[in-house]
Amino acid sequence: MDNTDHIKSHDEFASTYDSQAKQYNSYGHEVLFGMCYEYLKQGDSLLDLGIGTGLSSALFAKAGLNITGLDGSLEMLKECRKKGFAKEIKQYNIQNVPLPYSDNAFSHIICCGVFHFFGNLLPTIKEAYRILKPTGIFAFTIASLTAKESGLECETMPEYIEVQSAWGIPIFKHSDKYVNKIAQTHRLTIQKEQKVLVDSGDKDTDDILFKVIVMQKIVT
Ligand SMILES: C[S@@+](CC[C@H](N)C(=O)[O-])C[C@H]1O[C@@H](n2cnc3c(N)ncnc32)[C@H](O)[C@@H]1O
Repeated sequence: MDNTDHIKSHDEFASTYDSQAKQYNSYGHEVLFGMCYEYLKQGDSLLDLGIGTGLSSALFAKAGLNITGLDGSLEMLKECRKKGFAKEIKQYNIQNVPLPYSDNAFSHIICCGVFHFFGNLLPTIKEAYRILKPTGIFAFTIASLTAKESGLECETMPEYIEVQSAWGIPIFKHSDKYVNKIAQTHRLTIQKEQKVLVDSGDKDTDDILFKVIVMQKIVT
């Protein structure tokens, strides 16, 4: 599996993505929106990395933000375009850095339900910091290591692990230590975190622990 296989798999179920999210009671995007709400102003610009069908950024558009989105899957973008709320959306693999925007280009950035497909998050987060305006927020989700998985010796605990998922594709789970290190490296302040349990979609497989994280670009 190469790093674009999960994009291809989204192409395959784009037309049923929104109904499946409902079927599996998957409302992480609403949790992320609620956690961001206090930082938003009407007219702010928002870049959605991995916008998909637009489940997350449709909520920000409703709050009066101007939405730009990138996604690798043309089929997901097609579904998003039908909703008509985004100012600009285009196909782009967000692991290809630098991202195609100038410094301080957006008031806020979100990346919901995407980072569990990536091992190394550093290049994308570094770019998010560069194109984010000062005091802007960067909100994203990760699949988190459970207490049992983190029970490994601290010294030997990996930054992230790759596991098989019931969704038929491998996913990455990131450690708190790794996320804290990235925040410090890029001078992003972690303002909020919320753990969310996501339905595995298979009755014989444990649900998956995710975390919604809101970071802010504080420039001194
Ligand atoms: C689980 S969906 C989440 C969609 C949306 N953010 C939401 O909150 O509903 C993951 C999305 O990330 C996109 N994606 C995954 N890897 C990507 C990459 N390297 N570059 C661009 N998009 C990517 C997929 O095509 C898919 O649309």
